Parts: sequence; structure tokens; C-alpha cells
Amino acid sequence: MTDTFDIDYNRLPSHVAVIMDGNGRWAAAKGIPKLSGHKAGMEALKKIVRKSGEIGLEYLTVYAFSTENWKRSDEEVGGIFQILVYYMEREIKEIHKQNVKVNILGDYSVIPAKAEKAVRDAVELTKNNTGLQFNIALNYGGRDEITRAVKRIAEEIKSGKLSVDDIDESEVSARLFTAGMPDPDLIIRTSGELRLSNFLLWQSAYSEYYFTDCLWPDFDEAQYLGAISEYQNRKRNFGGR
Ligand code: IPE
Ligand code: IPE
Ligand code: MG
Repeated sequence: MTDTFDIDYNRLPSHVAVIMDGNGRWAAAKGIPKLSGHKAGMEALKKIVRKSGEIGLEYLTVYAFSTENWKRSDEEVGGIFQILVYYMEREIKEIHKQNVKVNILGDYSVIPAKAEKAVRDAVELTKNNTGLQFNIALNYGGRDEITRAVKRIAEEIKSGKLSVDDIDESEVSARLFTAGMPDPDLIIRTSGELRLSNFLLWQSAYSEYYFTDCLWPDFDEAQYLGAISEYQNRKRNFGGR
């Protein structure tokens, strides 16, 4: 593969997660409607999914809509889900052809019905694909995810399926939306904000962070490979030495 970046494709992160932030500011800078920013964000996402599959990444997780994003105007929330439906319906065949498996992190039963159906169809269509695992965090919040896991554990104890002594980190992990998946090695956040905003709180314990001022709609393959290249130059200790 010819890239300007010095990337060791045998040492890729297993799991890259992305906080796709900056659509609003991108649109504001251009003097166009905010929803046009969200549309442009989808175009950026398409490129990153394709590139991830091409380089042989195992897991890509993107933060598409948080449990806090419901606080935005009805117009914006409705628009975001319409754009999601449009993208899913138009792109799902291509995604399927790329052997990508779509998973959803978050309770998507409560999103608008059309979006819920589009997402469910995408998960169903791609469920046996063996290429990139593409997780879309939708109505996702890290605290919500951990709270649900705690509830499930409590219910299982109450019904006698689990005992208190059985509870350990792996039992908690097994009840998260990411059950069975490796933790993210690299978390990218665009738009210059230096925070997690409730993303993958449990899973990010030892993730490497990559922050860039680039607004999400401007994030492209070159920036993505640049982030992976920087990741490969980090030294991870996991508390040891
Ligand atoms: C990220 O872009 C997309 C979502 C949160 C859905 P924003 O809409 O947060 O963009 P900014 O932060 O206002 O620029
Ligand atoms: C995080 O971005 C959520 C998504 C990218 C979907 P926000 O724009 O919602 O985060 P805050 O509110 O600036 O922390
Ligand atoms: Mg934002």
C-alpha cells in the first residue's frame, strides 16, 4: 500500500473509535444550515468506513448520537435521523458489498420509527459479514450503558442466575453493548474539544487519545492514517512497565 504515512499494517489498532464532532461549526463557518453540516459529516464517515475496511481494521466505532443529544432542537434531532435514514438506505448495499458488519451500540428502540427500521434492516442484512465490524453508537451514553449492565446483574442475582461472588470486570464487560469486542485502542475526537462526552467510559480505560482541531466533515483518509500513524508511535504501559 502506498501512503505518505509510515504505517505498519501488521500492527494496526484492533479497534478505533471516533467522536465525530464539529458538523455545526463546519456549517456555521460556511454560512450554511447546520443540517448541511450533518450531511457533510456523513460523507466523511463514508470515506472512513471504506478506508477502515481497505486497511483491514477489525473494529470501527463511531459516535453518531448521544443520550444527551436529545437536548437539541426537535428540528435538528429530526434532521439528524432523516439524514441517517437517507444514508443507510442509499449506502447499505455498498457497505454490505464491502463485507462490513453493522452493529448498533445504544438503545435504538426509541429513535424515530423510520430510522429504527433502517438501522434494524442494516444490522440484519450484514449480520453474517466477516470484514470490518462497524459499530454505530446511537442514543448511546457510557453512563446509560453501565447503568443497564448494573440493572441486568441485579436482576440475574435476584433470579438466582448469578451470585455476588461471580461479579468481576469480565461479567460487567459482558453486559455492555460492546460485549465480546476488544476495548478501543485509539479514540479520535475531531473539532478541538478535549473531552469524552460520555463515550465508551468503561471501555476507554487504557485507550490512546488523538485530538485534532479538524472539523469532522473535513476529516479525510489522510488525517485518519495520520492518527493511526501517531498511535503506532505511542508507548502503551497498561500500568506496567
Ligand atoms: C457532531 O457535530 C454531530 C452530533 C453531535 C450529532 P455537532 O453538531 O456537535 O457540531 P458542533 O460541535 O456544534 O460544531
Ligand atoms: C459528542 O459531541 C456526541 C457526538 C459526536 C455524537 P457533542 O457535540 O454532543 O458533545 P459536547 O456536548 O460538545 O460535549
Ligand atoms: Mg459538538
